[in-house]
Amino acid sequence: MVDKVEMLPYEIQPARVDVVRLGQITDSHIFAEPDGRLLGLNTRDSFEAVCDRLMREEWRPDAILATGDLSQDASPEAYEYLADYFQTLEIPTFWTPGNHDSPEVMEKHLSRGSVLSAKQLLIGQWQVILLDSSVKGKVHGHLSDAQLSYLENALKRYPERYALVCLHHQPVVINSEWLDQIGLQNSKELKTLISGYERVKGVLWGHIHQDFQYREKGVEWIATPSSCVQFEPGSEDFSAGTEAPGYRYLNLYSDGRIESVVHRIDHMEFTVDYTIKGY
Ligand SMILES: [Fe+2]
Repeated sequence: MVDKVEMLPYEIQPARVDVVRLGQITDSHIFAEPDGRLLGLNTRDSFEAVCDRLMREEWRPDAILATGDLSQDASPEAYEYLADYFQTLEIPTFWTPGNHDSPEVMEKHLSRGSVLSAKQLLIGQWQVILLDSSVKGKVHGHLSDAQLSYLENALKRYPERYALVCLHHQPVVINSEWLDQIGLQNSKELKTLISGYERVKGVLWGHIHQDFQYREKGVEWIATPSSCVQFEPGSEDFSAGTEAPGYRYLNLYSDGRIESVVHRIDHMEFTVDYTIKGY
C-alpha cells in the first residue's frame, strides 16, 4: 500500500456532454514471460482478445479503468508490456493495484503516454477516484487512513460532481466463502464515508473474477469478470468458473445514473485447467 497519493486530478473532456463512457478491464494477471499461464490460460492472449472486443464497441470509451491484479508476478516486464499495449489503444488509461501487484513497480513501469498514474479523473459531470486497497504481502484488502481521507477530500473538493469510486478488493459480502475471507477488511469505514455523500453513485472493483452487481441506497455496487480465468460464483472453496474472459462497459449519465454491461469474448479458443485448486 502506498500512502503517498497522487493528488493532482486529471481532466478529460468526454466525447459527448450527456454521457461518460468507460471501459473497465481487471485482473489481467500478466506474467513477465510472454507465455505465462494462469491455470493453463495464456493471460496475454486473453487480455489482448478482451481489449480487441472492447475496441469493437460502437462507441469507444473516453477512458479505461484497470482495477488491479494487472500483473501476476509484479514484474517490471509485465507492466512494461501492459504500458505498451494500453498505449496502442490510444485511450487514457488509469489503474489501481491489486494484491498481486506492486504499487511501486507500477508507478515506475506503468506510467507513460496515455497510461496515467493519476488517481482522480474529472470527466463530464463526474469524478472517478481510484483507491489503493492492496496490503503488502497479503491477499485481503484494507484502505489506509490516507486512502480514506484522499477519498473524502476528493468528495469535498468537488461536491457538484457525481462520483464513481474504484478499488481492487470487494467491499461487500458476495456469498462465496473463500472470496469473502479475502475481501476489503474495513469495508464498514468505506460505506460509512460514502453514506455521507449522496453524489457517490457507484463503487467498482475486480478481485472476485465474476460479474456481480446490486443497488443499495442509490449506489451501484459492481464487480467485473477478469480478462483471464473466472471464479465460480457462490463457491465455498477455490473453483475456476467456466465463463469466458470479459470486461465491463459503463455509461455514466449527466443526471447521476450508471448503466453498465459485461461483454465477454467469444472468438478465442482457450483452455483452463480446472484441476488446479488455487491461483
Ligand atoms: Fe485480486
